[in-house]
Amino acid sequence: MKNVFIFEHPLIRHKITLLRDKRTNTKEFREIVSEIAMLMGYEVTRNLPLEEIEVETPVGKGKGYKISGKKLGIVPILRAGLGMVDGILQLLPIAKVGHIGLYRDPETLEPVEYYCKLPSDAAEREIVVLDPMLATGGSASAAINFLKARNITNIKLMCLIAARPGLEKIINDHPDVEIYCAAVDEKLNSHGYIVPGLGDAGDRLFGTK
Ligand code: PRP
Ligand code: URA
Repeated sequence: MKNVFIFEHPLIRHKITLLRDKRTNTKEFREIVSEIAMLMGYEVTRNLPLEEIEVETPVGKGKGYKISGKKLGIVPILRAGLGMVDGILQLLPIAKVGHIGLYRDPETLEPVEYYCKLPSDAAEREIVVLDPMLATGGSASAAINFLKARNITNIKLMCLIAARPGLEKIINDHPDVEIYCAAVDEKLNSHGYIVPGLGDAGDRLFGTK
């Protein structure tokens, strides 16, 4: 699948298994989501452009580098995407953070928007949308539509577990968007939950069930 990058690093596979485990408690779940986001962020930012600069060490002058070109913005989809923010900010503390609030209507599984606040210069940034779960793909596709409607064109999607139907929807709706995920599961159940997945990511992050 062109534009889909699946992480096969042993640390990520190990940590995803801990997330899937129903015995993992809220505190552990939150910590592990953040750790995986940081590990993935390392790879997602691999192609950030660098400019050469001079650096003066205590011993002399030498060649150094600084990140240049388009700056990064991250946009978690509320609620569960919030769990991935800190991990990315540990790598890129000056990245700006926008928020899109969406929930899935439990009957129709269609996304419903309830909040949107983006950095004022978002259109000039490379934007990484964060959501741990890509199930039907409805929420992520709608979030990307909101961004595109605000003239944001440079968009990546980062999720932890992607179901194949969700991947297919994003590839179809947004062929320009690269998708980074830590695991791919084949199917959804009749309630739109990923099987085996990890359950409801928002509830497990915030202890609401
Ligand atoms: C979850 C998840 C995604 C969405 C994925 O959010 O965090 O946003 O479902 O499903 P989809 O691909 O079928 O759209 P949910 O609606 O449960 O809201 P929450 O994060 O506030 O719990
Ligand atoms: N949202 C979740 O949190 N989990 C799923 O399996 C599907 C949607």
